[in-house]
Amino acid sequence: MTPLEYEFLRKLLKERSGLDLSSDKQYLVESRLIPLARRAGLADLAELVQKIKSGAEAVTSDVVEAMTTNETFFFRDKIPFDHLRQTILPALVQARAHRRSLRIWCAASSTGQEPYSIAMYVKEFAALAGWRVEIVATDLSNEVLEKSKAGIYSQFEVQRGLPIQMLVRYFTQIGELWQLNPDIRAMVTHRQLNLLEDFSHIGTFDVIFCRNVLIYFDQETKTGVFERLARSIEPDGVVALGAAESVVGITDAFKPCPDRRGIYRPNADRSARGGAAPLMPHSFRVVAAR
Ligand SMILES: C[S@@+](CC[C@H](N)C(=O)[O-])C[C@H]1O[C@@H](n2cnc3c(N)ncnc32)[C@H](O)[C@@H]1O
Repeated sequence: MTPLEYEFLRKLLKERSGLDLSSDKQYLVESRLIPLARRAGLADLAELVQKIKSGAEAVTSDVVEAMTTNETFFFRDKIPFDHLRQTILPALVQARAHRRSLRIWCAASSTGQEPYSIAMYVKEFAALAGWRVEIVATDLSNEVLEKSKAGIYSQFEVQRGLPIQMLVRYFTQIGELWQLNPDIRAMVTHRQLNLLEDFSHIGTFDVIFCRNVLIYFDQETKTGVFERLARSIEPDGVVALGAAESVVGITDAFKPCPDRRGIYRPNADRSARGGAAPLMPHSFRVVAAR
């Protein structure tokens, strides 16, 4: 691949998915895209680049999807799921008692282990019996969404993070594979969604899991995603980020929940000011507010 071809692909991926590749990742692009080019009947990456430039949309989205990293597993990092069960759901059961409904969004859900981990905990949360709990799983990649919808996992996948009792309770063995039972699958709705685009149409949520996707974006892209997430979360809702992700130095739209690692709340001070970022020194704001 020539430096110009690499630059073209790097720019395309940044624009389409937010993926921010450093200048030394040619090997990664080659290892993922050469097989794709062959499957598309193209001789090499030069032909693939030409095809994209000619406006072949299907190949272009295949390229973008092929460059996503879909690593995930059940109850990944454990802590956010402990918070969900021990503090977030109990607080929401009280706060939403009048409407008996909850909306939970898993914003980069990959092959489904994350939204289904949430679904299994919701199912086991007795106080939510009879409530309408909507769990929305979205991802940029249609391929992972299809796998998620099927809810079929290999022995290796169900051995990663899933307690054996839950495997027995919620899965059915099909040959060497395991399928989630229909009642758990039915708790999750799937749709394709790019976090780079406006997503106001999906409404507001009480809980958003947006984990292990922002790490692939540059600072400006992360700020944009946080701004949109801030408009999609209820004022008393919570956002869970991945272990290597944070809002610190990136946005003031959210602030960390004390003693709850990885959990963030919308910044109420900021909402009270109409969502605008602070423009004036604190001392001036205090004087102006009087
Ligand atoms: C590493 S996986 C994380 C899966 C899960 N959230 C977890 O923490 O285990 C990242 C996912 O983000 C998705 N993704 C990448 N760019 C995206 C974008 N711009 N919009 C929505 N999803 C994106 C990928 O397709 C991939 O499935």
